[in-house]
Amino acid sequence: MKLADRIATLSPSATIEVKAVADRLKAKGVDVIDFGPGEPDFDTPENIKAAAHRAIDENLSHYLPTLGLPKLRRALAASYRARYGTDYSVDEIIVGCGGKGVLYAAAMALFSAGDEVIVPAPYWVSYPEQVRIAGARPVILNTSDEDGFVPRASHAAALVTDRTRAIILCSPSNPTGGVIPQEEIDRFVALALRADLYIIFDECYEKFIYDGRRHATPLLSDGRVRDRLILVSAVSKTYAMTGWRVGYAVGPKPVVEAMGTLQSHDATHTSAVSQAAAAEAIEGPQESVAAMLREYTSRRAAMVEGLGSIRGFACKPPAGAFYAFPRVTGLYGRLGVSGSAAVAKHLLEEARVATVPGEAFGAPGYVRFSYALALERIREGLERIRRAVG
Ligand SMILES: Cc1ncc(COP(=O)(O)O)c(C=O)c1O
Repeated sequence: MKLADRIATLSPSATIEVKAVADRLKAKGVDVIDFGPGEPDFDTPENIKAAAHRAIDENLSHYLPTLGLPKLRRALAASYRARYGTDYSVDEIIVGCGGKGVLYAAAMALFSAGDEVIVPAPYWVSYPEQVRIAGARPVILNTSDEDGFVPRASHAAALVTDRTRAIILCSPSNPTGGVIPQEEIDRFVALALRADLYIIFDECYEKFIYDGRRHATPLLSDGRVRDRLILVSAVSKTYAMTGWRVGYAVGPKPVVEAMGTLQSHDATHTSAVSQAAAAEAIEGPQESVAAMLREYTSRRAAMVEGLGSIRGFACKPPAGAFYAFPRVTGLYGRLGVSGSAAVAKHLLEEARVATVPGEAFGAPGYVRFSYALALERIREGLERIRRAVG
């Protein structure tokens, strides 16, 4: 069957095999402990759900402006102003279908055939694919485990050519949990200014940072970055709202306008009710976020300690997000396998534990464990792994 050429450029997800096996096992009634999903296991907080009910009762059921519900964009502008002293107007903010939707719109608005976009690895799966869909070429910037997987601007500078259009940064990172320190972000900003590049900065996990560290962001860097910065976030992770599909970006007006034009021919906008709920998430009480961070903090300790005590896993504490990303090359010899996809398969078949192999993120040799599941399940999963590989 003839499909569009662009489909041939997309990689099938390396996560599919393990997920398919996990789903088959679950369907058969097998109790699989699932460290796979990149989403909070918490329910959306009550005040946010109540705002959605109100929106339905008040008949918020018509089309909205393409850029999004004005009340939500005003709430976002106020939130950025309060936190960082910025002066973004509602015309410089676009709401879309999740962080993924706005990242896609940004890629389509900014990249053309022949362009190059620097993407640090390990990367979130959709960055290289979105770049390719836009016709451009992802150029991988390697990072190292020893350096906390922090992308370095000096290494990025060596990859810049006259075709480079942008750098996509993610902090805290999915999949590594790595956080880019403010000084390094400042260096990336200096590089963007020098080499005339955009920075797409994905801070979807901005509220989940451990050990009392402050979130580092280009909004705290040289203010001249404003013309080159597309900052992306979402309510998905922060407020346990993955299914509501609300993400947003702030950026220069012409870029936001272009993203809006694209969206006007695509989704039009994300659900009005979801946007009303997201406005409450941004403006309303924030205790639920603090409670989730406390819970993730305990789970992170259990995860890192547990994996660290099993021979073959080398696991450093993630600085943010809710993923542990241990090196598993130490297991290859013992299990008689090679590649982290084979390790993930072994863990699934022998320990009934689902994970995501690093190949999915451009990082063979590693396995991602999401710890967005209850502490007892984490402990049980670790015990099963210990028995299966011990
Ligand atoms: C780094 C990163 N960015 C963006 C997203 C997209 O989130 P959503 O589209 O659900 O808001 C995710 C989701 O897993 C993510 O991990």
